Amino acid sequence: MFKTLDDIGSGKRVLVRLDLNSPVEDGIVKDNRRFARHARTVRELVEAGHRVVVMAHQGRPGRDSFVSLDQHADLLAEYVETPVAFVDDICGEAAIDAIRSLDAGEVLLLENVRMCDDELPEKPPEEHADSEFVRTLAPEFDCYVDDAYSAAHRSHASLVGFPLVLPSYAGRVMQAEYEANTSIANREFDGPVTMVLGGAKATDVIDVMSALDDEIDHYLLGGIVGELFLRAAGYDVGYDVGDGELYDHQWENNEARIRDLLAERGNRILLPVDLAYETDDGERAEIPVEGVEKTQPLLDVGSQTVERYADVIEESAAVFVKGALGVFEDERFADGTVGLLEAIATTDCFSVIGGGDTSRAIELYGLDEEYFSHVSIAGGAYVRALTGQSLPAVEVMAQDDC
Ligand code: 3PG
Ligand code: MG
Repeated sequence: MFKTLDDIGSGKRVLVRLDLNSPVEDGIVKDNRRFARHARTVRELVEAGHRVVVMAHQGRPGRDSFVSLDQHADLLAEYVETPVAFVDDICGEAAIDAIRSLDAGEVLLLENVRMCDDELPEKPPEEHADSEFVRTLAPEFDCYVDDAYSAAHRSHASLVGFPLVLPSYAGRVMQAEYEANTSIANREFDGPVTMVLGGAKATDVIDVMSALDDEIDHYLLGGIVGELFLRAAGYDVGYDVGDGELYDHQWENNEARIRDLLAERGNRILLPVDLAYETDDGERAEIPVEGVEKTQPLLDVGSQTVERYADVIEESAAVFVKGALGVFEDERFADGTVGLLEAIATTDCFSVIGGGDTSRAIELYGLDEEYFSHVSIAGGAYVRALTGQSLPAVEVMAQDDC
């Protein structure tokens, strides 16, 4: 499919694109699994005696999370266990000087690549390859490594421009994510394939369901999308409560598709039979879906639902998770999400856990990543891969014939 780190050799000048895009709170960049994952690729490059220059992005212009990468350098250094120098420039004189003064085995991180005007326009690879940014940096390197799978759905200069002008290789994260996330489309499983679908982005989930059909034997629904399907099935569930805005507009945008899916695949779609809410005393309580009233805020699936879903998982050969079943950040409402993850962890099936937040539940509740075949660090790219869409940055790597 693409060449990997095994094919580079040693002692080269390597430009590597990582995805270190992280949550930022009050200007502080939060540590997260992207640093640990990408550190493996960087460490391998260091050990092979390459000069390693890292490109990455953070936030978008206009957002609070659009900050410098100086803090990222320190976080990355901890995981790579080697110093990571930082230069607050991308392709100007300061950056070129810093790149040229690197020694073998040294690592340099360039400034937030989205601070360069050439980066962000969504353009075809050929146009990006011809940008001043790519034309200035490329001659400083022998090859390009793309490890930023989770940004591969963006046709940005740092992702699609360089593979046209430099020999290109997939990093370890790119390799692992590509293989796991495309397995619905590319692999045969010896038994039922199940999808656990939840989270707050109902439209994404419905896109996934619409794009897949015969590949999936069971859909287990929770979160906002689970409630919207219950609404379609005639329950008083899935309505905005108070001044909330999560349900009604997603319902309006997707009602027809939800009704069609339920009519055509109702026998394969399992919906929650009970849900959890917060009592006046701040406790978790559960209620069968028949008993819910439109005015009741719901925060998780109930224990009967978890039991039913766990039975399906035990019979599955493969399970793909996209989105959480409840508001797991609050310990009282984590039972659904964590219960399902535990069922997957203890079943001998091929399993992929994705959708940014869901993988955070693994961390938060001390589940071991080793129990899953793959825990994705991608959001938008994961959804597109599940639905069989190609990703511009992956496509251009696969075509590489430099
Ligand atoms: C992400 O964190 O989702 C990726 O890095 C892509 O970032 P973007 O959604 O701002 O393009
Ligand atoms: Mg995103």
